[in-house]
Amino acid sequence: MTSSDLWDAETAERYDEASAFMFAPDVLEPAVDFLVDLAGGGPALELAIGTGRVAVPLVERGVAVSGIELSAPMADQLLRKTRDIPVVVGDMATSTVPGEFSLVYLVWNSLGNLRTQAEQVACFRNAARHLAPGGRFVVELWVPGIRRFPPGQVAVPFHVGEHHAGFDTLDMTTQQGTSHHYRRHSDGTVTYGASNFRYVWPAECDLMAQLAGMNLEGRFADWSRAPFTQDSESHVSVWRTPA
Ligand SMILES: C[S@@+](CC[C@H](N)C(=O)[O-])C[C@H]1O[C@@H](n2cnc3c(N)ncnc32)[C@H](O)[C@@H]1O
Repeated sequence: MTSSDLWDAETAERYDEASAFMFAPDVLEPAVDFLVDLAGGGPALELAIGTGRVAVPLVERGVAVSGIELSAPMADQLLRKTRDIPVVVGDMATSTVPGEFSLVYLVWNSLGNLRTQAEQVACFRNAARHLAPGGRFVVELWVPGIRRFPPGQVAVPFHVGEHHAGFDTLDMTTQQGTSHHYRRHSDGTVTYGASNFRYVWPAECDLMAQLAGMNLEGRFADWSRAPFTQDSESHVSVWRTPA
């Protein structure tokens, strides 16, 4: 039983349009270049593959990609685009797919969808289980923005626009967080939606990787391999299984 929120059909149908900024070539192409390079000609497995935002262009670049995805409606959206990507509908912490991979990857903060430390550890172990010797696990994850929470402040905005306002609340004792979304529609109505996550530090990720038998090979601030610094708000980390 997973702690993840289950993405429903309505969310899945709106996903590509609502996430258009993440499909923009300047966002997506550096990620695809990075992952094609690390796959090294071998097959790749995407955990939480969604509608194939990253997997589809990876396949177009000649990488054989498989996926694990919890939400059947999200997997259905991917199936409508291509039949070339086998997807297992299940939990990325526990589900297995056939094959051995040179690359397993988990992008756009999706590790946080697993809301317990035990499940996040299990996810690292599951990634390692699918890797060939010397294979790599790549995670793209935000660095918890604790510095944006001055004492006494309960929520911080992460986006405020004409059609959408979003706020994060964090519980610093449990590392649980919620993103609150207020959307204004063309008919003037406003709807509210929330998504829950567990935030996790880079160092905690390294420990999870170690528990799974992997070691840190590199950490960058973004897909273009910019140096990771104390001001970085996100990281792209690469762990490797022994060759
Ligand atoms: C932000 S989307 C990312 C989708 C895709 N990787 C991308 O970059 O566009 C997060 C995805 O994680 C999936 N997800 C959440 N919890 C999961 C779990 N426990 N196992 C597998 N997938 C999960 C959601 O259904 C959703 O498709």
